[in-house]
Amino acid sequence: MVQEIMPNVYWVGVVDWGITHFHGHELSTHRGTSYNAYLILDEKIALVDTVWGPFAEDLIANIRQVADPAKIDYVIANHAEVDHSGGLPAVMAAAPKARMIVSQKGADSIPGHYHADWELQSVSTGDSISLGENELVFIEAPMLHWPDSMFTYLTGKNLLMPNDAFGQHYATAFRFNDQVNQEELFEEALKYYANILTPFSRLVPKKIEELLALKVPVDMIAPSHGVIWRDNPLQIVEKYQQWAAQQPEPRAVVLYDTMWQATRKMAEAIAEGLAEAGVDSKLFHMATADRNDVLTEVFQAKAIVIGSPTLNNGILPSLTPILEDLRGLRFQNKIGAAFGSYGWAGGSVKRLEQELEAAKIPLVREGVAARWQPTEDDLAECRKLGADVAAAVKQA
Ligand code: FEO
Repeated sequence: MVQEIMPNVYWVGVVDWGITHFHGHELSTHRGTSYNAYLILDEKIALVDTVWGPFAEDLIANIRQVADPAKIDYVIANHAEVDHSGGLPAVMAAAPKARMIVSQKGADSIPGHYHADWELQSVSTGDSISLGENELVFIEAPMLHWPDSMFTYLTGKNLLMPNDAFGQHYATAFRFNDQVNQEELFEEALKYYANILTPFSRLVPKKIEELLALKVPVDMIAPSHGVIWRDNPLQIVEKYQQWAAQQPEPRAVVLYDTMWQATRKMAEAIAEGLAEAGVDSKLFHMATADRNDVLTEVFQAKAIVIGSPTLNNGILPSLTPILEDLRGLRFQNKIGAAFGSYGWAGGSVKRLEQELEAAKIPLVREGVAARWQPTEDDLAECRKLGADVAAAVKQA
């Protein structure tokens, strides 16, 4: 349902209640998402961002409730990823006189996606366009989270539209942050940050400082996914500053897969050792756990302990995806350790230790390997491993 979020500024986006995975199947979206697009009426009419392609006609119908799409003067494409640019072909067909505004890098990525004959105007940080009473001001935000990413600010309304930044994959009937369940909202905002923005954490405080240095008032932050921050909008900016610092909490996650329960028993003994030493942990069986939820836990915890039985001199393949993420997301300030069972030839512990080192997660100590089913001595060694990890967590 179209909503006027402030005078003459309309949310014309789409709520996608049914989507369970994003980026193909890479990112779980348990609570759906929304594709937020904003229509601004002034002497000129501007549309900021669109929606994912399958919802393009819904977007056009929403725009029609407010204005004739043919009267749109500017279409701002803050980012070429298709969940925001997918509606561009339909919009540009319905708005033949509109000029498309893109970032410098967008001048490459938008044509790269659509190969269309659109007239593009590329802008740089500080450039502005007058809509009549108010102006749109552009702030490039490269690698937050694509090279083309850009924020758009509307003067007079003090409205920041930062595209993906500060968003959440969170389908809701309400549009504003003060109207929804706060626990769910921050859970989704954190999951979004941990799974998408972590590798770019060094850039986040710089961009925020740049924004604050502009000394422009911000009354509302309207991202391209989830709810709009109108109640204390800077609270999500503060959260981003905190998350970007990557100062994890003094606890651990224990990830494992198991064939015949030997590695599971070891995982539980490690958790006991952690708990006896006063450090909380969460265990995840990676054959069934949601990878993105686990990554959100990893983001928050100081220690990551990974276990696998040996299979073909290596590890169980169910662990491979999260190891790829550990390498790619480049978590900072972690410590790690490995464990696992084996039968005739070992190999899993060494391989997991190599993976942790490749992810630049230093090892607390040598891992624990147990042959066949773990003995009482093996389990005691696992508890010792837990205690050693706990000591390192507390020391950090
Ligand atoms: Fe980078 Fe929501 O797309």
